[in-house]
Amino acid sequence: HLHLGIVKQRTFAMLKPDIVDKMGQVLKLIIQNGFKITKLKMVQMTKEHALEFYAEHKSKPFLPFLIEYMTSGPVIAMELLADNGVAKWRELLGPTDSEQARKDAPGSIRARFGIDKSFNAAHGSDSCTAAERELYIFFPTSRIAQYESPRSTATF
Ligand code: TYD
Ligand code: MG
Repeated sequence: HLHLGIVKQRTFAMLKPDIVDKMGQVLKLIIQNGFKITKLKMVQMTKEHALEFYAEHKSKPFLPFLIEYMTSGPVIAMELLADNGVAKWRELLGPTDSEQARKDAPGSIRARFGIDKSFNAAHGSDSCTAAERELYIFFPTSRIAQYESPRSTATF
């Protein structure tokens, strides 16, 4: 077997509060694009969770607004698995700014479901290191979990 250049990766994905009621449409796109949804839960983040999650942005002017938004209602937190999953999910997500996304990546999730650079529908880890950190915040028992399926090559 040769799997050169292709690595199965898990990543952390999250639907932000204002698109949770559209999760059916978003999950359909995720599955159609070849991801396995290996973990999923609906949770309400506390302010403390959100601050820990967005620690890298702690000195940004938009942080208070971002924390307010992300704690305004429940989110859908997911572990996704795919070949080159981290980059693949960022690709399906599209650029940070939904208005830009509608120009540059009209089929992307942020183009279809987001509003602007703040209300941008969903989150995706930007690296494997970030994915592991973020998954551990939402799914702390999953550190050594590995997705295995007897039909792992099947598409559905
Ligand atoms: P960032 O990590 O730059 O974007 P991404 O989510 O694409 O990795 O920013 C994190 C979130 O902060 C972003 O999804 C939305 C919010 N944000 C704003 O509200 N205003 C901004 O100007 C930026 C850059 C981000
Ligand atoms: Mg980011």
